[in-house]
Amino acid sequence: MTDPAKRTSIITIDGPAAAGKSTAARLLAQRLGFVLLDSGALYRCVALHLLRRKIPPNAVRIPEEAISALEIAVEPAAVTMKVLLNGEDVTALLRHESISEAASRFSALPEVRQALLDLQRSTGEQWNLVAEGRDMGTVVFPHARFKFFLIADLDERARRRYLELIERGERADFDQVRSQMIERDQRDATRKASPLVMASDALAIDAGALSPDEVVDRIMCAIEGEASSLNAAR
Ligand code: DC
Repeated sequence: MTDPAKRTSIITIDGPAAAGKSTAARLLAQRLGFVLLDSGALYRCVALHLLRRKIPPNAVRIPEEAISALEIAVEPAAVTMKVLLNGEDVTALLRHESISEAASRFSALPEVRQALLDLQRSTGEQWNLVAEGRDMGTVVFPHARFKFFLIADLDERARRRYLELIERGERADFDQVRSQMIERDQRDATRKASPLVMASDALAIDAGALSPDEVVDRIMCAIEGEASSLNAAR
């Protein structure tokens, strides 16, 4: 359970796909010596599990036995969080485009979101956390003291995702990447369970024209500014 007191040890970073959350969250975690919770990787891990069980990504509900056969564990790692699916390290399998698409669809289902809730919250009990995703500040850690919401315009996000795929040696077509992104944005924002919305107490950062280090500088500035105004008020 989340501590109802404001948690200074949890920093949430939410926002749409390819707004620069992952890199900024990783750099911020490194600077602060916090653990990175990449919640997207958990949804990707569920997608891998369900695809392995031949459940189609357009399923409207997930059979109970598929959820109960799912055991995910996370371990802090130097660059990315390590994700174990029923004991197997699946971290390297999670970034593939077919998994992205399935994760986007499965993550709309309440039973999938529910299956990950306790795991995510328990990481916040164990470690100081930079938690990155879509609903970290709204649903998973509503009491986090510092919340950020990264935005960037669609073309910039599509360009980033396209370059990321090319760098990984995957075949990609810019227009297709862009239209898939529109579709996923729409799905993330309109699903009934935990839609992508900015928490009312989050600070929005337009990351479109900023480097990851500049995004982290802005976040650090906001945290340090807030901390010193709290100290001054004491
Ligand atoms: O951030 P990502 O691309 O790795 O996330 C993969 C999918 O998981 C994405 O389509 C939306 C979903 N997701 C979610 O619904 N809630 C989160 N907190 C994180 C990711």
